[in-house]
Amino acid sequence: MTLRLPDSGAAVMPDGRRVAPSALRNADAIRDLLKRVAPSQGRALELASGTGQHVAALAQALPGLDWHPTDRDGANMASISAWAASAGAPNIRPPQVLDAGVPGWGAAWHPVGLVLVVNLLHLVSEGVARTLIAEAAQALAPGGMLAVYGPFLRGGVATSDGDAAFDGSLRAQDPAIGYKDFADVQGWMAQAGLDPRAPEAMPANNLMLLADRRKT
Ligand SMILES: C[S@@+](CC[C@H](N)C(=O)[O-])C[C@H]1O[C@@H](n2cnc3c(N)ncnc32)[C@H](O)[C@@H]1O
Repeated sequence: MTLRLPDSGAAVMPDGRRVAPSALRNADAIRDLLKRVAPSQGRALELASGTGQHVAALAQALPGLDWHPTDRDGANMASISAWAASAGAPNIRPPQVLDAGVPGWGAAWHPVGLVLVVNLLHLVSEGVARTLIAEAAQALAPGGMLAVYGPFLRGGVATSDGDAAFDGSLRAQDPAIGYKDFADVQGWMAQAGLDPRAPEAMPANNLMLLADRRKT
């Protein structure tokens, strides 16, 4: 099923780079936070890379990490590759197709220092979200970090009229999806054996939920 999303009309550059407005808006804040908290070395696995805008910016800002962009949709590989080429960053590996909601990928990717996912959890069911978190925990090396960015409910409530309307439009399209409560997500992280940190406030009422895999 194709969801109707505010960013569905991403522009396309002559070299094949697609440009999602939301990624333009949040990339700097995500970069600045990850520069502060992410491991400085090792492999970084990005789930649901979409256009590839984030991995291009992050690979430049965190050059000690070896970045692996992925997405469920093979049609996104060309744009991710075009963004990687434009960034000129030697630490971006070729994109791979990966459905984060299908169990089994975590052990195959172990060990990675960072798993990042931006703006996906509200678009998938609770079952897919829980699988993603459990598999990410399997993929992480001891001391590694899971970083989950997006819009979340707080105490079961949306933080603005715009968020409530977007959440409602998602649930109208598919009752199984929609905003997750950040406390539920932190609970799923803990069930997966990770230690959630305090949520990081991000622009436009969004949060970055960070969780660490213990060193021992
Ligand atoms: C709203 S876009 C976000 C893209 C990018 N992270 C960003 O913030 O610009 C959602 C992305 O999730 C991908 N996606 C959806 N379900 C997925 C899944 N189960 N596993 C991996 N990627 C998925 C879609 O193909 C799409 O690229």
